[in-house]
Amino acid sequence: MAEDLSIGTGTKEEQYETLIPQIKALVDGEPDLVANLANVAAALKEQFGWFWVGFYLVKEEELVLGPFQGPVACTRIRKGRGVCGSSWQQAKTLIVPDVEQFPGHIACSSLSKSEIVVPLLKDGKVVGVLDVDSDSLDSFDETDQRYLEQIVGSINL
Ligand code: SME
Repeated sequence: MAEDLSIGTGTKEEQYETLIPQIKALVDGEPDLVANLANVAAALKEQFGWFWVGFYLVKEEELVLGPFQGPVACTRIRKGRGVCGSSWQQAKTLIVPDVEQFPGHIACSSLSKSEIVVPLLKDGKVVGVLDVDSDSLDSFDETDQRYLEQIVGSINL
């Protein structure tokens, strides 16, 4: 596809519906994981303007920072720690409306107020997570979960 993203307007659903075919076109047929994660992070950041969008990858019993868009972030997260480490441990998406209410939340930035973390599953095993942070409270819901799970599911892992 062209390297320009066409920005969707309208409801959140309509924005995702415009974005998803473009993300599929970007990652389809491209086997390089870093290239695909970088483009997915950039596309999500460009469409939604969230505070931080990025990936952590499982490497030897830790999550290690991967491609992202936004301010510098924590490099390593242990299993079960923070929202990312909990999503890894539970192998499920976690929606956190107010990060201050999440026990053990890791504050890479005090500006982050709400968060969603979606695991990357390969053969039923978590190989990484997508982490999205917002500087507003309560930014994410089941709609984000459904579409973000669809997006990470389209990445060749
Ligand atoms: N808040 C995350 C850490 C990663 S940063 O937000 C980029 C957590 O609690 O796992």
